[in-house]
Amino acid sequence: MSADYQVHGDVAVITLNNPPVNGLGLATRQGITAGLEQAQADPAVKAIVVTGAGKAFSGGADIKEFGSPKAIAEPNLLSVILALENTSKPVVAAIHSVCMGGGLELALGCHYRVAAPGTNVALPEVKLGLIPGAGGTQRLPRVLGVETALNMIVSGEPVKSEMLAQLPGQKLFDKLAASRESLMDEALAFARDVAAKGGALPRVRDLPCKHPMGDAYFQFARNMVKGMAKNFPAPGKCVDAVEAATKKKFDDGMVFEREIFMALMLTPESRALRHIFMAERAASKIPDVADDTPKRTITKVGVIGAGTMGGGISMNFLNAGIPVTILEMKQEALDRGIGTIRKNYEAQVKKGKLKQDKYEQRMALLSTTLSYDDLKDCDLIIEAVFEEMGVKQKVFETLDAVAKPGAILASNTSTLDVDKIAAFTKRPQDVVGMHFFSPANVMKLLEVVRGAKTAKDVLATVMDIGKKIKKTAVVSGVCDGFIGNRMIEQYSRQAGFLLDEGCTPAQVDRAIEKFGFAMGPFRMGDLAGNDIGWAIRKRRATERAEMKYSKTADKLCELGRFGQKTGAGWYDYQAGKRDAIPSRLVEDMIAEHRKSLGIEPRRISDEEIVQRLVFALVNEGAHIVEEGIASRASDIDMVYLTGYGFPIHRGGPMLYADQVGLFNVMQAMKRFQQNPRDDAAFWEPAPLIKKLVAEGKGFSG
Ligand code: NAI
Repeated sequence: MSADYQVHGDVAVITLNNPPVNGLGLATRQGITAGLEQAQADPAVKAIVVTGAGKAFSGGADIKEFGSPKAIAEPNLLSVILALENTSKPVVAAIHSVCMGGGLELALGCHYRVAAPGTNVALPEVKLGLIPGAGGTQRLPRVLGVETALNMIVSGEPVKSEMLAQLPGQKLFDKLAASRESLMDEALAFARDVAAKGGALPRVRDLPCKHPMGDAYFQFARNMVKGMAKNFPAPGKCVDAVEAATKKKFDDGMVFEREIFMALMLTPESRALRHIFMAERAASKIPDVADDTPKRTITKVGVIGAGTMGGGISMNFLNAGIPVTILEMKQEALDRGIGTIRKNYEAQVKKGKLKQDKYEQRMALLSTTLSYDDLKDCDLIIEAVFEEMGVKQKVFETLDAVAKPGAILASNTSTLDVDKIAAFTKRPQDVVGMHFFSPANVMKLLEVVRGAKTAKDVLATVMDIGKKIKKTAVVSGVCDGFIGNRMIEQYSRQAGFLLDEGCTPAQVDRAIEKFGFAMGPFRMGDLAGNDIGWAIRKRRATERAEMKYSKTADKLCELGRFGQKTGAGWYDYQAGKRDAIPSRLVEDMIAEHRKSLGIEPRRISDEEIVQRLVFALVNEGAHIVEEGIASRASDIDMVYLTGYGFPIHRGGPMLYADQVGLFNVMQAMKRFQQNPRDDAAFWEPAPLIKKLVAEGKGFSG
């Protein structure tokens, strides 16, 4: 059982003990109820203190039990809370460090609460698309007042115990301890005190719950959450549940809360958020690299190239307090690069997002050089020079000659073969891809590209440093485009075919933006620069002559319409503005092209647009999992959610396919195979999809 029982004089102490955050798994719940029974039965025990071992009081539900029958097995959390509430001896929660979700609901079931300062208190269920399901929406308003409680429930954000303790009239904490260290002594003394006083034991459920403005307040609250509730039902339901606390009897409110909780559990939005929560944790694990693999120490970083990427990459490390030396070929390039970094930081200072002294501290960690000698003591060196193998070769040969033994040599290449780059050195085990996304100081995604010879401790170190610089690091094997760009190519190809068949760029963009993408493929192309894809297609024309493309993108580039930077792309742009204005010229160009191919344009539904774009990602993603380029389907979802603007409420392309049903996805692919304008070979469902459908499974099981 994951809770300890000890008796200190006349007080029993039940200590939740389920590292790392005392999640309320079945064994912990059993431990609590067993402890309560023992304490009840022992005449020497006059009061009970419930606390948490180690780094938390309790972080709430045990994520290891998510979705398993254990999560709801008896005693479930509701039963444990009832048992606490109905204990005839006073129960005091001794709260510290982390008191969240089910942990806070548990504390609210105790008769009294003593908290250490610095405790993070929260009901974060809304972040998983849920509402608290064990009385949180009914009890918290009774101790904090309706407004404060609703704010905490709708935002899911933690608030420090000392702030809550100061709120006038609050009944959440009966006492704020002087410190974390003195908490247990103070809680024990408090317990003895209340036991000695005797009298009825207070229960949160018996407290009144009202808002003086009644219905009007809840109307305001609903209006307030509309924005955040756009794609998610849970925030609005939080308001409903708290309103019920003010209008229904306590037990009826509990039933109402439970009903909402269970209904939300089944929504695709909550499934998506829970999937992302798990996927994020899974992505940091590499199947054949043990968690305890020793890591190399990274105290100084070198960056080669101060261009678009080099500057942004450097900022990540400066922000994390790690010194960076940037190397360039010419002083002008260095000056330009440093100027851009300064400008970025200054914009943050202006917006009030960064303090002036922090900005100066960060800049003080940055040094520049034109000489490789100054990279000699770097533990990690990231190359972000021009995307040409010859240039990379020179850089890596030089690095091999100057870098200290054991230094990690990383390339930010987006299209080149990391194994070839590694082979330019005599230490391929130290070479790895670190593929950042633009703007590198903003985008969360970091693809860690594992070469054939990359050492395990190098991977473990890079994954760890990814976390330190606040990225979502996902491992990819070596292949053309790695995970993200290899998939986006299929998506872009579909977007091109859709133009050939009858769509306008605006129609395609609108449909996929309505689905939830931040930006459709054509607006995205105009932002990133259409010439980038053009260069890649030209390079690949010889390598992959069999790949079928719409020619419209090339024709657009032949007109010099590279996008926003040239003032024209798939759309027209007015000087100094970013609004995409549908272009007559482009539409005529597309119509002309159709005519030359003898295509009669047809009306294409938004549904077909979305399916062809998204299922193209899914089919390529399935190949990527099958080939072992990605360790698991959920890694692909993380890549798309954090690097490509895939809508969060859909949970990523692979989860979306599961939600649609893989059988239905496969049927759609077969339909697309019949379209003579499309690429029938591509739409052959990946063997993994066929296998999963045959087994009646999805990517997530
Ligand atoms: P960029 O052209 O903005 O910057 C490259 C910089 O490297 C220039 O300042 C140049 O002076 C410098 N440079 C070139 N050769 C050098 C050498 N031998 N020694 C030292 N410095 C040298 O290019 P960008 O966009 O920053 O791309 C750099 C790398 O990052 C490329 O491999 C690219 O494929 C990759 N990448 C680019 C992304 C993007 O969105 N721009 C996204 C992800 C990766």
